[in-house]
Amino acid sequence: MERKFPHLCKPITIGRVTFRNRMFSAPMGGTDITNDGCIGPKSTAFYELRAKGGAGAVTISECMVHPKTDGSHAYHLDTAILNSLASFAYTADAIRRHGAIPSVELSHSGMYSGTYMTDKSRQHGLAQWGPSACVRPDGVEVGELSHEMIDEIVAAYGQVAGLAKRAGFEMIMVHGGHGWLINQFLSPWFNHRTDEYGGSIQNRCRFARRVLQSVREAVGPGFPIEFRMSGSELFEGGYTLEDGIAIAQELEDCIDLLHVSAGTYQRGFGDTHPSMFKEHGCNFYLAAEIKKHVSIPVATIGGLNDPAQMEEIIKSGKADVVYMARALLADPFLPEKVMANRDEEIVRCLRCFTCMAERAATATRRCTVNPLIGREMEGDYVLPAPEKKKVLVAGGGPGGLYAAWTAARRGHQVILCEKEDSLGGILRSEQALPFKYEMYQLAGTYAHLARKAGVEIRLNTEVTAEYVEREAPDALIIAVGSRPLLPPIPGLKGD
Ligand SMILES: Cc1cc2nc3c(=O)[nH]c(=O)nc-3n(C[C@H](O)[C@H](O)[C@H](O)COP(=O)(O)O)c2cc1C
Repeated sequence: MERKFPHLCKPITIGRVTFRNRMFSAPMGGTDITNDGCIGPKSTAFYELRAKGGAGAVTISECMVHPKTDGSHAYHLDTAILNSLASFAYTADAIRRHGAIPSVELSHSGMYSGTYMTDKSRQHGLAQWGPSACVRPDGVEVGELSHEMIDEIVAAYGQVAGLAKRAGFEMIMVHGGHGWLINQFLSPWFNHRTDEYGGSIQNRCRFARRVLQSVREAVGPGFPIEFRMSGSELFEGGYTLEDGIAIAQELEDCIDLLHVSAGTYQRGFGDTHPSMFKEHGCNFYLAAEIKKHVSIPVATIGGLNDPAQMEEIIKSGKADVVYMARALLADPFLPEKVMANRDEEIVRCLRCFTCMAERAATATRRCTVNPLIGREMEGDYVLPAPEKKKVLVAGGGPGGLYAAWTAARRGHQVILCEKEDSLGGILRSEQALPFKYEMYQLAGTYAHLARKAGVEIRLNTEVTAEYVEREAPDALIIAVGSRPLLPPIPGLKGD
């Protein structure tokens, strides 16, 4: 088969490990974490689906390396915790059995310990440690890490990396970006030390270098170590792209894959997670620029979901690997669809932030365009129906189209009626706004998928009581639209 996106689909060898393609699954936060910091079965199933969907590598999010000085990041690998190693081993197995490489992100949140706690008041009871003492904008006091503590944390990175390898992970991602501890050391904004860990770029890189060396000692030669960094902190007073290049050069001899992201959570969340108001791939210039100055493979990330754009990035040599987070929440099968030239079937991420909002509020995974998210444990959740029925769907908006597609996949005979002369419902009004065009496109994708699954679509057809009686379906799904919600704001209806 001649591939439409041959560069994206081409295997890559990093260290001694070969990845089946260049589309890797980025860390996407931990949910379903047990009280003692293990990966719960729902989460294992979530990661397994990313592997089933064809990603070259699947990264487990933020494994905390040193709970004594970090109280917020999700999982913790610790032989003192019963089941810790087992939960990681089961997850690595689940990823590997579908041909993807399991990777785990090691992290320490430093002075922002507590960020992920749903109950923010508990943050104040935690010990927060950073490169330099300060009081955070939210009033939390941060202590300066002593040399002994630094030594302990560096050693912990190695211990946890060794355990991850023992559990079956085949790559380690050291999180050095997004404003967490390693980034805090790299940054002139956070790091005011006057010892060998502060001042010059070389000094600010010392902690990262020691962490990477500690991980290398634990995993041995040939085992891929990835370093995730922000190419630039993208705020005034933070480090610039020029500094990002110098940091990459300073550390490259300890790294097998350099993963260039952008910004920090605390001072540029919208740079790290570009919203629908930004161009797709708006951060890849950072990776492209850094790649010119290093000789190791470089990965890029940020608002990527278009195979043609990603193919061009790899083909033009601007990066060697593309990472996606939200695009794979929206459609975990994106890589498989790219590999099989079925890109028109990709359900694209709208970059609406439902995923982030839900994660912060309820620690669950939710997605506007993927209602099946969070149900990965149910396996093949669109099950064949025990009895084939005739299903009539009234309404060709996103709800009706998705319902029709699902019913058809279950084996039913499905007719969808839309009273207007085109599909899309409320989403049709989004086509005029460039940044909302993908919302409009979503209706087209759902319609394509519904048709392909065998749904008969009848336009200019209003479903009345008589119409239903005439068609005599076994089931009727009414999806004729939503009503706008008017918040009870006094004066809203006034002049
Ligand atoms: C719900 C959610 C959770 C995330 N959790 C993590 C995380 O645990 N660790 C991390 O390094 N990045 C995390 N990120 C950031 C992503 O890895 C990625 O850098 C960012 O979303 C931009 O990529 P995208 O545009 O492909 O989503 C998270 C992103 C989202 C949307």
